Amino acid sequence: MQEFGVIGLSVMGKNLALNIHSKGYSVAGFSIDKPEVDALAKYADDKLKPTYTWEEFVNSLEKPRKILIMIRAGKPVDLTLEKLTKLLEPGDIVIDGGNSNFHDTRRRFHELEKFGLHFIGMGVSGGEEGALHGPALMPGGDEAAFEKVRPILEAIAAKTPEGRPCVSYIGPEASGHYVKMVHNGIEYGIMQLFSEAYDMLRKACGLSNDEMSALFDKWNHEDLQCYLAEITAEVLKKDDDLTSDKVIDHILNEASYKGTGNWTLEDAIVLGAPISVIAEAVLARFMSKATTRAGKEISVDQSKISSDLPELIASALYLGQAVCYAQGFMQLKMAAKAYDWTLRYPGIAQNWEAGCIIRSKTLKDIEDAFEGNPEINNLFEAPFFAKMMQNRLPDLRRVVSVAAENGIPTPTLSAALNYLESIFNPSLPANLIQGQRDYFGAHTYFRNDREGVFHTEWYDEK
Ligand code: 6PG
Repeated sequence: MQEFGVIGLSVMGKNLALNIHSKGYSVAGFSIDKPEVDALAKYADDKLKPTYTWEEFVNSLEKPRKILIMIRAGKPVDLTLEKLTKLLEPGDIVIDGGNSNFHDTRRRFHELEKFGLHFIGMGVSGGEEGALHGPALMPGGDEAAFEKVRPILEAIAAKTPEGRPCVSYIGPEASGHYVKMVHNGIEYGIMQLFSEAYDMLRKACGLSNDEMSALFDKWNHEDLQCYLAEITAEVLKKDDDLTSDKVIDHILNEASYKGTGNWTLEDAIVLGAPISVIAEAVLARFMSKATTRAGKEISVDQSKISSDLPELIASALYLGQAVCYAQGFMQLKMAAKAYDWTLRYPGIAQNWEAGCIIRSKTLKDIEDAFEGNPEINNLFEAPFFAKMMQNRLPDLRRVVSVAAENGIPTPTLSAALNYLESIFNPSLPANLIQGQRDYFGAHTYFRNDREGVFHTEWYDEK
């Protein structure tokens, strides 16, 4: 009998099955796609069992059965669950490791509860390599069920630099998939921040791809240390197979998306969460497809650009990245309240410290900030981040102003700046909005000097 089962054996499922097997656990694999099972069969031994039918798969598992589904999100997950509910028994545990929408996970969690099945919605990050060697895992659902799969998940998960597994329990119901969704929103935000930095380095500073690659590599060994800095350096220096140029210069500048970042923004709108950097990053992908190709290249007088601009950009990126995380955590706090979840913020930061796309040195500082005070509403209330903001805000202001003066768009850097200029600002001009609303629609307003709801007769009835 096998200790664990994996359904769906395309690259992610297969690599996770091999990862589990490599940690000494016995695992059965199944897919409705026979060639995928055949591919797994090449590795078969007494602890790795390829199975070709639903029944063979289910009957090969120890009870309570522990099953990870790694298939395309959406309808296929519902069809798989429909099949499983007919074959499984109360107490069995089903984990959905796909990029499922959290609304679906909520519904499935409660549907499976009726069959006595425990459903865990688990975000998995890190791509193919991560799946094989150590992904970041974000499990949400029934905590007692999580405890039963914890040893296996801890064995396969990425480890933080201190050796802790990136798989602590997130919270109830659909919170694991929610946290993965916000992870992806942050991923969009940081990727866009890096692409704006790249644009400034090439256009304002006139750096070559190799020079930029060297800079990102240097920054990846400083405060800004993060996976996306590391791969940016790699991407920029890669030679093209088809020409004598770097491949980056021949990649069409239209960014695609499968949509998980969009979901983050959709729910932020439902919650009223001001995740401006993530929102701009989502919109920047739309913008990249909407631009007309008839435009004229901007030209920057590089002799007027100060030589310290690259270092200011590094500083602005570091702060912008922190804003991106701050906005993600703010959304998580608002979601926890709206959906009645208790979330463990230090654990979420820990889960992201290794294995996932948004891993960075900053996440340990975020974990420490939430350990220090789990009640903080905004990351920049924590002393470490408050000081960092104070030190680096002038750099971010300068970078955004150089970009604006030279016609270089910086939607996320600008959004990060505006966020920081706004979030601790006691005199934002929203009073005028309220005055206008009350003027044209008698929408009423609160006053800053007395309790109650007020309306002003703004004009004489004609
Ligand atoms: C991960 C990534 C992964 C992925 C998205 C890409 O954590 O491993 O977030 O989920 O990169 O599928 O999303 P877009 O296609 O929307 O960029």
